[in-house]
Amino acid sequence: MRIGVVGVGQIGSAIARVLAQTGRYELIASRRNLEKVRELEDYGVRLTRDNREVASGSDVVFIAVKPYKAVDVVREIADLIRGKLLISVAAAIPIRKLAKAAPDAKIVRAMPNISLIVKAGFTAYSLGPNIGREDEEKVKQILSELGECMKVEEELMDAVTALSGSGPAYVATLIEAMAYAGLKVGLPREFAYKSAAYTVYGTAKLFLETGIHPASIKEMVLTPAGTTIEGIFYLEESGVRTAVMKAVEAATRRAREIAEKLNQGD
Ligand SMILES: NC(=O)c1ccc[n+]([C@@H]2O[C@H](COP(=O)([O-])OP(=O)(O)OC[C@H]3O[C@@H](n4cnc5c(N)ncnc54)[C@H](OP(=O)(O)O)[C@@H]3O)[C@@H](O)[C@H]2O)c1
Repeated sequence: MRIGVVGVGQIGSAIARVLAQTGRYELIASRRNLEKVRELEDYGVRLTRDNREVASGSDVVFIAVKPYKAVDVVREIADLIRGKLLISVAAAIPIRKLAKAAPDAKIVRAMPNISLIVKAGFTAYSLGPNIGREDEEKVKQILSELGECMKVEEELMDAVTALSGSGPAYVATLIEAMAYAGLKVGLPREFAYKSAAYTVYGTAKLFLETGIHPASIKEMVLTPAGTTIEGIFYLEESGVRTAVMKAVEAATRRAREIAEKLNQGD
């Protein structure tokens, strides 16, 4: 399968590199300043400044430019993607708007996160109306190369953006906080960061692989009058759960505001 990526910046270059590394796809990618991503050529990605060359040379095209540019870029390549899958990762830009720009393309809206750099991303996707079972399988196959993927109703994309799209920043804050705590109680720096990160990683893996509910994982660690309940007491007192809930709720609100502004009059 030939895959194109228009806009190889932060997320687009990660998508191109990870897909190229599998050895299962031919990659072609574009941006204006190619010097910044020359290393992609080491993975076999063909680079060009011409978005139309990307579109004509691929079976599936990712759009990974900033949201305010997505529609123009899709319009620029519309005649070359008739009948092809177009996967837009641009936040806030709805399928109907992309479909207006390229009426004959098969549009998918996806929201990945930056952890796809290490093939541990989480990507939510919504399908346009003209996508059949075979195309959906193709979409799932490609997005699974980047980590886990799940289908979601498009109306939930702002919430997805706020939770898993922005999520690596929240979890990084938690890892940093735990590492700082380690430093405060005297752990060596590298030890503090690694033990914090592996604890986050292992706890997520424990939940995902066993299905043990997070509340029960806590119960497995808590002993009466022990150390963990002492720590949990302060976490609860500081309102850590409501802080996270407020953060995601605020980010969802912001995602909606941005979407409304970008899509005004459409
Ligand atoms: N970063 C994330 O964690 C993340 C997660 C999920 C979704 N997204 C979405 O992914 C998109 C890109 O985000 P990003 O953080 O990767 O931004 P970014 O680093 O700025 O990447 C965008 C790239 O598009 C290129 N570009 C600009 N105009 C272009 C054009 N006309 N034709 C081709 N390429 C063009 C830019 O390179 P030149 O200036 O050299 O052309 C730039 O490298 C956004 O829509 C965002 O909502 C990002």
